[in-house]
Amino acid sequence: MNKSEFGVIGLGVMGKSLSLNIAESGFNLSVYNRSDGAEANIVSDFIAENSGFKNILGFKDIQEFVNSIEKPRKILMMIKAGTVVDAVINQLTQFLDPDDVLVDGGNSYFLDTKRRYESLKTKRIHFIGCGISGGEEGARKGPSLMPGGNINSYKLVGSILEKISAKDVNNNPCCAYIANDGAGHFVKMIHNGIEYAEMQLLAELYALLSLTMPNEAISELFSKWNNTDLSSYLLEISAKILTKKKNGIYIIDTILDKAGNKGTGSWSSKLALEIGVPTTMMTSAVFARYLSSFKTKREHLSKLVATKNSNPNIPNIQILEDAYRFARIINHYQGFEIIIETSKENNWDINLSELARIWTNGCIIRSELMRNISELFKSKNDLFDHNYIVNTLKTSEFSISELIKSAITNRVPLDTYWSAYNYWISMTSKRLPANLIQAQRDFFGAHTYQKLNDASGKFYHTNWAKSKNS
Ligand code: 6PG
Repeated sequence: MNKSEFGVIGLGVMGKSLSLNIAESGFNLSVYNRSDGAEANIVSDFIAENSGFKNILGFKDIQEFVNSIEKPRKILMMIKAGTVVDAVINQLTQFLDPDDVLVDGGNSYFLDTKRRYESLKTKRIHFIGCGISGGEEGARKGPSLMPGGNINSYKLVGSILEKISAKDVNNNPCCAYIANDGAGHFVKMIHNGIEYAEMQLLAELYALLSLTMPNEAISELFSKWNNTDLSSYLLEISAKILTKKKNGIYIIDTILDKAGNKGTGSWSSKLALEIGVPTTMMTSAVFARYLSSFKTKREHLSKLVATKNSNPNIPNIQILEDAYRFARIINHYQGFEIIIETSKENNWDINLSELARIWTNGCIIRSELMRNISELFKSKNDLFDHNYIVNTLKTSEFSISELIKSAITNRVPLDTYWSAYNYWISMTSKRLPANLIQAQRDFFGAHTYQKLNDASGKFYHTNWAKSKNS
């Protein structure tokens, strides 16, 4: 029997959809899933449900699965990030040969990917950490793929990954080699950080609009914006969500207001804190999710505090539109800044224009803004060096301040809009009160400070406890 050209391990939602995508793209495929406990029939059910695909072979035995694939083998793991990935790699490597290629398509932490990459290198097994975005539908019809690892490893699987990926407006694949070791999973992690803030911006806007507008009207507004430069996948789905009913009741009104998360947003924020890049918006979005989870406490406290403004008044639509545009630009700016910094630290030399391009379709943060950003990065990597960006922020600063004022009056938390506004105000302030921080540090800890207009960069210490004029 002919050997398969590709293998997929893990038939969860994403694994199944990607398998069908790969098979539909014409590749002979072997699939494997463990078959203990509740997963006993996953493989056979999948094969039975998709019996139309004659090019998919199912396996419950990992060795038979590996042997069914032509050499050098190309295997995609679609399993939950964490220690399971190490366990599966250990199990697999007994049966793999040098030059085989293993791709981790889960949301693994990029430093884990780096460690696995180094360890598999000693066994001469190619390891690719591939960020995959697009959810179930993207996986089935064409996701955005962010592969990282050795460029020669990428060449062995690149044509398959590019074929199954989404295509941009010019019909080029939304899949491009990112850089060495953990770079693919790193950019996917930041993609998710940007995603968290984009989602939160829409949620906060919905909170404010709901004061005076019914779901249908908010949905109409979002749909209208979706035909402008504000267009994005998240805006489109939010418009759809707001009108979906079950038994005559809006589903959105029945959903418990506690947001979950699987960790990538907090990983991005932790890294930002470690390396000193103020990604304030994604971090605010992570905290907003955490805050939402205190539902019982919130309910209790809400009874103690007078809340509802009986006569809510929200800014006009133009103000909201400009404020939303403003905040999205800051979010993207911050997201790409942490990519620039980490790329420098790791000598990855990530091509930002290409990265933004592969995020123009297939992924969750695809948008018109991303298309613009991809073009802007062709000339300069600092978005604040582009007149379009700075002028847009400058002209919409008034709108975001109006939005925030209205949030205060109406007692609506707008964490991510506040973060965007404060970031911009700080970044455009010649002088910040950090001089007082430095003086305080020097006062209690002799941490020293530098002086204004002293090009030598020399550090000074003052004996602050002495009399005023010493
Ligand atoms: C994507 C998404 C996806 C993400 C889930 C869950 O790009 O397709 O980012 O990979 O992991 O949507 O994320 P949270 O549970 O953390 O919201």
